[in-house]
Amino acid sequence: RDRSIDAADLAPLSGRPVAVLGYGNQGAAQAANLRDSGFAPIVGNRDDEYAPPAREQGFDLRSIADAAAAADVALLLVPDEVQPELVRDEVAPGLRAGDTLVVASGYNWHFGLLEVPDGVDVVMVAPRMIGAAVRDRYVDRHGFPCFVSVERDATGRAWETTMAVARAIGGTLGGAIVSSAREEAALDLLSEQAIWPAVMDVLRTAHRVAVGAGFTEEAVLNELYLSAEPAEVFAHIARDGLFGQLGLHSRTSQYGQLRSLAALDEHGELASRFSRVLHDDILSGAFAREWSRPEAGERLDALRREAETTPIAVAEAEVRARLDH
Ligand code: NAI
Repeated sequence: RDRSIDAADLAPLSGRPVAVLGYGNQGAAQAANLRDSGFAPIVGNRDDEYAPPAREQGFDLRSIADAAAAADVALLLVPDEVQPELVRDEVAPGLRAGDTLVVASGYNWHFGLLEVPDGVDVVMVAPRMIGAAVRDRYVDRHGFPCFVSVERDATGRAWETTMAVARAIGGTLGGAIVSSAREEAALDLLSEQAIWPAVMDVLRTAHRVAVGAGFTEEAVLNELYLSAEPAEVFAHIARDGLFGQLGLHSRTSQYGQLRSLAALDEHGELASRFSRVLHDDILSGAFAREWSRPEAGERLDALRREAETTPIAVAEAEVRARLDH
């Protein structure tokens, strides 16, 4: 791992005006990192609460359309759900053959939701890190994992541009991971649609079973997650390994965990469900089509309201209210 960023690494960007479109979580961090890497990024932002901080930080602030038109390399850093319309109406008209559009997530490009003019390179530089830490880990040279890919190489130089952008934002300090928009989007969606629902189901099922056995809501919920112990365990998993961290638990706990895991079938119902979600919902594009429909937002609101009325959510609200008093 190379912890330095020198001029040679960044040469493919020299003389090419860079714009950061959107000054939010990622935009503010990446703009600051670009500047400290020796660039003078133009910031494109609409007239909202994100604009004043960009001005205060001394960036050349313009409208998104003006910034896109002025740039040769444009980093698209607005929320995924606003990108298709924004690119069509304000970004694409400013892009010329030979320019580069950089996306920070694969979803819209992979599922065909971005209309980018012919001749424009499309590349992905996707930090696996929240914006604030993208900045902090650039400053302290810790770096962060960063997925990179070339999605459309119109110029024949897209890889050089990709790696130079990744370096300039600090995405190579922790090691860049060659990936693709398809892989990045699919893995993200797999976490969201397979892993986290399974985790939520585990917690809700454990709650139902334990409360059904007569244990108190307060004890059950603290055991499950209110104590934040699972967050500690996950931090140790990242540091010491999935099984390496078992040494932090008592031998009774280790025996209980491993004998119960050994009894589970890793090719069973969960595997079939995850595989179904990955292939039938995600990779087929069925989920992306459903989420693009206008009524999907209302369905999300309804699902959230419904979730708030489930026994575990109601119990949690009661326990929290008691703890707060
Ligand atoms: P954000 O929610 O912080 O974006 C806010 C910015 O978007 C502001 O500049 C705001 O003015 C602008 N914006 C919002 N709605 C707009 C609209 N309708 N028209 C014009 N501008 C609008 O976004 P965030 O989280 O920084 O995400 C940006 C990109 O980075 C996305 O592609 C996301 O998937 C990706 N990403 C985000 C990560 C994160 O931790 N937040 C991690 C890795 C990638």
